[in-house]
Amino acid sequence: MTDNDGLNKKLFGENFHFGVSTAAYQIEGAHDADGKGPSIWDVFTTNKGKILNGDNGSIACDFYSRYPEDLRLLKQLNIPNFRFSIAWSRILPQGFGKVNQKGIDFYNRVIDTCLELGVQPWVTLYHWDLPQALEAKGGWTNREIVAHFSDFSTLCAKFFGDRIKYWMVMNEPTVFTGAGYFFGIHAPGRRGMKNFLPAVHHAALSIAEGGRALRSALPSGTEIGSTFSCSYVEPYSTKSRDERAARRVDALLNRLFIEPSLGMGYPVQELPALKKIEKYFVKGDEEKLKFDFDFVGLQNYTREIVKHSFFVPYLGAKLVAAEKRKVDVTAMKWEVYPPAIYQMIKQFDRYPGIRKIIVTENGAAFPDSVVDGEINDVRRIDYLERHLLEVLRAKNEGCKVEGYFVWTLTGNFEWAEGYGPRFGLVHVDFVTQKRTIKNSGYRFANFLDA
Ligand code: BGC
Repeated sequence: MTDNDGLNKKLFGENFHFGVSTAAYQIEGAHDADGKGPSIWDVFTTNKGKILNGDNGSIACDFYSRYPEDLRLLKQLNIPNFRFSIAWSRILPQGFGKVNQKGIDFYNRVIDTCLELGVQPWVTLYHWDLPQALEAKGGWTNREIVAHFSDFSTLCAKFFGDRIKYWMVMNEPTVFTGAGYFFGIHAPGRRGMKNFLPAVHHAALSIAEGGRALRSALPSGTEIGSTFSCSYVEPYSTKSRDERAARRVDALLNRLFIEPSLGMGYPVQELPALKKIEKYFVKGDEEKLKFDFDFVGLQNYTREIVKHSFFVPYLGAKLVAAEKRKVDVTAMKWEVYPPAIYQMIKQFDRYPGIRKIIVTENGAAFPDSVVDGEINDVRRIDYLERHLLEVLRAKNEGCKVEGYFVWTLTGNFEWAEGYGPRFGLVHVDFVTQKRTIKNSGYRFANFLDA
């Protein structure tokens, strides 16, 4: 089926973490059950024309009720680690103040079921579903959010800290601030620099504050990380203006959040459009942006080819679409380019402050079809295997990469793309909620069984 021979779990070493990643709004459904407050995604998806086919996550995979079945799939597929996120408004319907015990109970059930099955639960505190009540006060543009986020982090540590060893403060801040606060294509749908810059600064501060809140509340031995999206960026040509444009895009996509957390500040020199972020600083913020994470979650799917463009404001650069380049693409129209993950691990590994890298997401959407009860997703198998080989290459060259999580377990709600593109090792029929393990799922299970 594929020719990615030589791929063997043992080559990654005994302590390498393999797993799958998920996110609350993309799978849970039960959007208003048992006292949950609305999140920005519950509200944003009601706007006409924002989401493909008018889809929303109100039911999604109904993980809220079907978690026992889905967690058993992990066991069946030999998957030892499960990453999921906490829906902030499920446990704090207003974002702060009164706690919703039924929300706490739900996550306790998920955690306990994982542990009973011998699966290690990994928790993300924030995967983009801000309580709408906080958005009404300005969301990430309002500095007050930093204190609310810190309190939410402390609360999660208090309720779940006795059983969760691995924590991630936030998921992909570049994506939720860029798509949600600059382009307005994700919740909450705000646009422009006046929203983007304060959202970036308050999210960056919250990443570090959340880390500190967890560290002071959790027992020693707990590992605290945060996840960062990255795409390997290359210039379209060797012309110096394309090379400069590529460096600006690299600063935006790959350096914007990791560098302040490492104490290096924002990459303003490379990307002068960020200069105005200083407006949102208060005294002492440079220090407050830093946090010494136990691990960094690296999330990579593709590479970007960048060309200088006079017409694109702030960035002076544009991405050359993969389809135009006539390369192999996924259903997200992202180029299939496995060396990207190798390059990004190398790039992150060069930062002296990073202790450990876990690939907390990698995966691909392809149009899957169920034929006689079988999903023979050869392209996904090939994608995953080739990426795993690239992770191994980086590891063998001495990079501190110690984990790889597939995005994702089951098909789910893909944000602005609704239920169009299908990711995951397990197919979900969104009408019947029937789960069917894809061949990629079986292949991953065999790999993990070694
Ligand atoms: C996000 C996921 C998303 C995946 C595929 C990442 O950006 O963390 O929520 O579904 O990529 O697009």
